[in-house]
Amino acid sequence: MYERPNQHETPLYDALVQHSQRKPYSFHVPGHKSGSILPSKAEKHFRGILEIDLTEITGLDDLHHPEESIKEAQDLLSTYFGSKHSFFLIGGSTAGNLAMIRATYQEGKPFLVQRNCHKSIIHALELSGAHPVFLHPIFEQETGRYGPVSSQQVEEALREFPDAAGLILTYPDYYGRAYDLKSMIEHAHDKSVPVLIDEAHGVHFSLGEPVPPSSLHLGADVVVQSAHKMSPAMTMGAYLHIGSNRIEKQKISTYLQMFQSSSPSYPIMASLDIARCYLATFTQEELANSFEYVKEIREVLQSYPLWEVLPSEPGIDDPFKVTLQVKKTYGARLVSQLLEKEGIYPELVTDNQILLLLGLEPTVSISSLKAHLQNVYSNCSATHLEAHATIEQGVIHVEQPRYQKLAYSYLALDRMQPTFLPWSEVEGKIASYSVIPYPPGIPLIMKGERIQPFQINQVKQILEKDVHIQTQESNIQEGIHIYIE
Ligand SMILES: Cc1ncc(COP(=O)(O)O)c(C=O)c1O
Repeated sequence: MYERPNQHETPLYDALVQHSQRKPYSFHVPGHKSGSILPSKAEKHFRGILEIDLTEITGLDDLHHPEESIKEAQDLLSTYFGSKHSFFLIGGSTAGNLAMIRATYQEGKPFLVQRNCHKSIIHALELSGAHPVFLHPIFEQETGRYGPVSSQQVEEALREFPDAAGLILTYPDYYGRAYDLKSMIEHAHDKSVPVLIDEAHGVHFSLGEPVPPSSLHLGADVVVQSAHKMSPAMTMGAYLHIGSNRIEKQKISTYLQMFQSSSPSYPIMASLDIARCYLATFTQEELANSFEYVKEIREVLQSYPLWEVLPSEPGIDDPFKVTLQVKKTYGARLVSQLLEKEGIYPELVTDNQILLLLGLEPTVSISSLKAHLQNVYSNCSATHLEAHATIEQGVIHVEQPRYQKLAYSYLALDRMQPTFLPWSEVEGKIASYSVIPYPPGIPLIMKGERIQPFQINQVKQILEKDVHIQTQESNIQEGIHIYIE
């Protein structure tokens, strides 16, 4: 869709290959010397890639001060995505989220943050000593999950906090679901508030309909994408794009240097160059073939009564993600175990749903998939059903005000002393750990929040249901560490 003639070029990858072909003498790091020093058992899988695992020597540029092939590769990236400037990241979206938030932070100004965000966002806020205002996401009846915050909530929060340092949202969600982000961006820009988007799951949203639009094209100011999640980049490879002049490129660059290694991986960077080339040169014909494949896979999956395949709405749902709503009688965890026994590994399993990620091209033979699924179906025998039918399913509803602030800034919390108290004594105290029932993954109590009676009641209910809880608190059954004020 945004193809440029030179998008077939891969300057960084080419520079590495050309260097390697010269069979140079390595008197520099890394110690494997282009893969020639290795235990023999590692040779088969490592030798090839280590030939291009190089470092900042003449001709191979420097990620933290790019002037040659890395600059050219990042410029091609920026041209393809239509950004003001784009960066390669070798620390995943995690590094990008840390840098975008730290670079946008302004002393005393709050950040408006979607409460069901990735932990790297919370870590960035904490590291920045920021004042977050958490916006509670809406529960989506049709998917049975917590989704985005509403446009109205964003508008209200901006009215109350017009001087916010930024609005931080996740787009799309883990399941590939997009939403009306454009109106939220417009509300924020009306107040000159920059919009920072964690688009970890949407690097391929540049491909065009029926794939939802990228937030970059909807006007977001900074967008971070895990290139490794949905495009052919190596794990930890990600992109950060600057979409407007509201953000200082130099500040982002400074923090990326702080949060990322001074010895960035050349194979990861080269894979980012290749992934951009792949996306930018993906033809409409290839896209049409992929959708045929997606359709076939969905039809095959739909033919088993173990689950319902949740519908995919063009322009809203990522077509390459398929969610199976597993029938209550079977239970998603049992079904996923049987899938794994057949060598089929899903991306995510909750109590009632299984998320499958398809590649941007066909990778699995339909006939062998059918054979394995038939085995899964047969193995879901009556014995299994009886054993698992009693497991309570469904999503825990997390009641929260529409938005909520922390009692103190993270910097102030850092200076306070934590102590453990039983649940009966924590009302009105400041939580020193977050409590996150999973699913749905929405913090019920956030570190730094003043604990309300309804939160204590909800924790008690959740503990009775034996729901998995993500927390650093080791004795969550009995109580929680609070900060002494
Ligand atoms: C929404 C979201 N943001 C950020 C991340 C972190 O991405 P990465 O693994 O590329 O660091 C993840 C990881 O799953 C994620 O789901």
